[in-house]
Amino acid sequence: MDLKDFKIQWFPGHMTKAKRMMEDQVRLVDVVVELLDARIPASSVNPMLRDIAGNKPRVIALNKADMADPVCTEAWLARLKKDGVPVCVVDCSRGKGVKQMLALVQEAARPVTEKWLKKGVRNHTIRMMIVGVPNVGKSTLINRLVGRVKAIASDRPGVTKQKQWVTIAKGIELLDTPGVLWPKFENPGIGLHLALTGAVKDDIYDRQMAAELLLQELLVKYPDRLAAFYGIEVTADDTPRTVIEKIGAVRGAIKAGGVLDENKVVQHVLYDFKSAKMGRFTLDEP
Ligand code: G4P
Repeated sequence: MDLKDFKIQWFPGHMTKAKRMMEDQVRLVDVVVELLDARIPASSVNPMLRDIAGNKPRVIALNKADMADPVCTEAWLARLKKDGVPVCVVDCSRGKGVKQMLALVQEAARPVTEKWLKKGVRNHTIRMMIVGVPNVGKSTLINRLVGRVKAIASDRPGVTKQKQWVTIAKGIELLDTPGVLWPKFENPGIGLHLALTGAVKDDIYDRQMAAELLLQELLVKYPDRLAAFYGIEVTADDTPRTVIEKIGAVRGAIKAGGVLDENKVVQHVLYDFKSAKMGRFTLDEP
């Protein structure tokens, strides 16, 4: 089993159209908020956004911070700040960090508001939109900002409904439709991390391979926590296969005839990780 063999069966059929639609949306706003998954801040970056957003001010929000390793999140914050990117940490499910994010939006829009001020427009309303890969939490954030009004997102890149502006704070309007774009699967590691965190549908990759590659990563980065969660012993000699056997034994994933039910263990491992039942992990290192 080799990471380079991990493939996502995804074909960028309507990318050009999606890109054009996103460009149309971006043109309407002053600030673009790029939502990244705090567990995979590098893999959930949308490489096309650089092109699309051009010189538009951008704010990065690391979402699902409640599922990520807090030490790594701090490291990511420091790293991105050092690169000069306005960045904050949010937990959209609970609404944590959202106020701080709006403050960053206001700050990022300052050159625009000053430009308007020079033209004599005192209270220019800042217009913003949320973009990100599927499942990163765009609709959750929009719902959180908008309150009662329901945001309808689509997993299909670039699919939009009638655009609507919603006032979410004094002087800030939000485009109620998020910008959905697929990331490029530039290398198998990115694809794997997107798959493990739920950004791609699970019928377009090999789940057995994904689970084994995840265990391989956890054996290197978090062996003690892996062992503690499943109540197994993990040694330096362990491989993903032996860990699957051990988990199968403690979880009773045994088929008739006493044979290990590998498929069941794979489901367990992927679910436990994706849902953060296993704990808070960050797969991308800053
Ligand atoms: P999207 O519009 O970007 O596609 O994402 P969406 O808001 O639909 O969120 C995807 C899933 O992620 C949702 O779970 C949502 O509740 C969850 N989520 C969003 N933000 C956070 C966060 O900060 N922390 C945690 N823990 N979860 C968050 P879901 O409805 O259960 O969908 P699924 O996970 O079963 O796909």
